[in-house]
Amino acid sequence: MSSARITGTGSYLPERILTNEELSTIVDTSDEWIRERSGIAQRHIAADGETTLDLAEHASRRALEAAGRTAADIDLIVIATTTPDQIFPSTACLLQHRLGNVGAAAFDVQAVCSGFVYALSVADNFIKAGSSRCALVIGAETFSRILNWEDRSTCVLFGDGAGAVVMEASDKPGVMSTHLHADGAHASALHVPAGVSQGYDAVQEGRAFVEMRGSEVFRMAVAKMGEVVEETLAANNLDREALDWLIPHQANIRIIKATAKKLRMGMDKVIVTVDRHGNTSAASIPLALDEAVRTGQLQRGQLFLIEAFGGGFTWGSALIRY
Ligand code: COA
Repeated sequence: MSSARITGTGSYLPERILTNEELSTIVDTSDEWIRERSGIAQRHIAADGETTLDLAEHASRRALEAAGRTAADIDLIVIATTTPDQIFPSTACLLQHRLGNVGAAAFDVQAVCSGFVYALSVADNFIKAGSSRCALVIGAETFSRILNWEDRSTCVLFGDGAGAVVMEASDKPGVMSTHLHADGAHASALHVPAGVSQGYDAVQEGRAFVEMRGSEVFRMAVAKMGEVVEETLAANNLDREALDWLIPHQANIRIIKATAKKLRMGMDKVIVTVDRHGNTSAASIPLALDEAVRTGQLQRGQLFLIEAFGGGFTWGSALIRY
């Protein structure tokens, strides 16, 4: 059976940077508060008219180039996003057309901040089953569009961006295991109440934006990320020392540090971008992964763990030999 190997990575951040100082002119907050509670110093915000599809396209082209592939080689496109361009078609179908691919299977995955781990797991299983040989997996978000810019408890935490990987069937080791979980009992702790099927009343009432009970999310995130890391190591019969890198979802530096501590990993082995990107939801892990690759930190043959937690609640991890 083939393994699914990451053969190229790419990412894209919108040009506009929104600093904490600038945010403090919009809502009652301060650079000090945001840095201390979350580790975030700035985030990127998509320009007017710039959409999730645009961000995904840039990241995808860079990943294809890094893998030495063209769009015609791709037989599966999976985009993790909570902020699709349209209700339908899926952003994956729109991207497929932009890239000039015809015929690949294309669909979106919705698991909020865990979305990229879910999408990667889907592609891994397609490849292992022989249903795909060359997959494009993307996390792309314009989260700024679903933020209430008058709510200081949420708008300071998120940003926009996209990251992508090309995954190919290979005889060499790649994805070693993936672990996905969810618990819908906590839906209202982190959600956008507006939806399609229940009508547009919530939109009219101004509730088409992220609502969050921050400390509840924080506690669950630390607990579940710790659990899933243990689960991943046990499933692979691995000691924590075997890991070269931890590439966590970038929500909050305090959550990242708590997970690193559980793994007894020094922060020098943890990829951190939350200070510059904020929480870009499904885009955060592939953005951090691409940075690790392009800065030369992550080397071929090294072992890394990705893990995420998000609305749903959803959480998950993947152990990957690069
Ligand atoms: N600037 C200044 N003060 C703020 C603020 C802001 N941007 N946002 C909230 N506050 C205030 C609150 O109103 C509260 O004031 P009060 O004590 O007078 O009521 C005070 O700061 C403390 O709020 P609290 O919620 O206790 O802070 P916290 O230490 O829990 O940190 C979060 C808040 C949101 C940073 C933290 O809970 C968190 O990171 N949660 C997880 C969020 C997350 O990662 N979500 C995505 C998961 S994928």
